[in-house]
Amino acid sequence: MLTFPDVIRLKAVEDGRMIGFVAGDPRPRDGWGWIATIAVDPRFQRRGVGTALLHQCESKLGVPRARLTVRMSNNGAISLYEREGYQVIDVWRAYYNDGEDAIVMEKTL
Ligand SMILES: CC(C)(COP(=O)(O)OP(=O)(O)OC[C@H]1O[C@@H](n2cnc3c(N)ncnc32)[C@H](O)[C@@H]1OP(=O)(O)O)[C@@H](O)C(=O)NCCC(=O)NCCS
Repeated sequence: MLTFPDVIRLKAVEDGRMIGFVAGDPRPRDGWGWIATIAVDPRFQRRGVGTALLHQCESKLGVPRARLTVRMSNNGAISLYEREGYQVIDVWRAYYNDGEDAIVMEKTL
């Protein structure tokens, strides 16, 4: 993610320190891009940083739709994505290394 060309990489900074990041992978030929990773330092969560990172990444993807995968058990992240207009479009069984299922979500931008 840090080295691939065309990948969108954004960080959130407070007092000169990184407190969150997001990476987006545009796939213009598919008509969508992937929110590949997003995280906020636990000490700075629930302040809107994740939402701001998501919005910025969505706007820079330059494609009609954004997609992402999230662990079935990650209720906090799923809440955020639902609030931001993402809808479940698929479930990938045993997608993660530990066997957990992934929910695939999509939003029309
Ligand atoms: C998911 C994550 C990026 C959200 O970042 P954040 O800065 O806390 O998000 P925001 O403050 O913008 O949250 C916006 C809304 O999303 C929902 N939300 C976010 N985290 C939540 C949680 N832990 N539980 C329930 N709802 C949550 C809430 O509706 C929240 O609004 P509110 O605080 O007014 O109730 C952060 O929890 C994180 O880094 N988690 C660990 C990494 C991770 O799971 N990444 C996603 C992988 S797919």
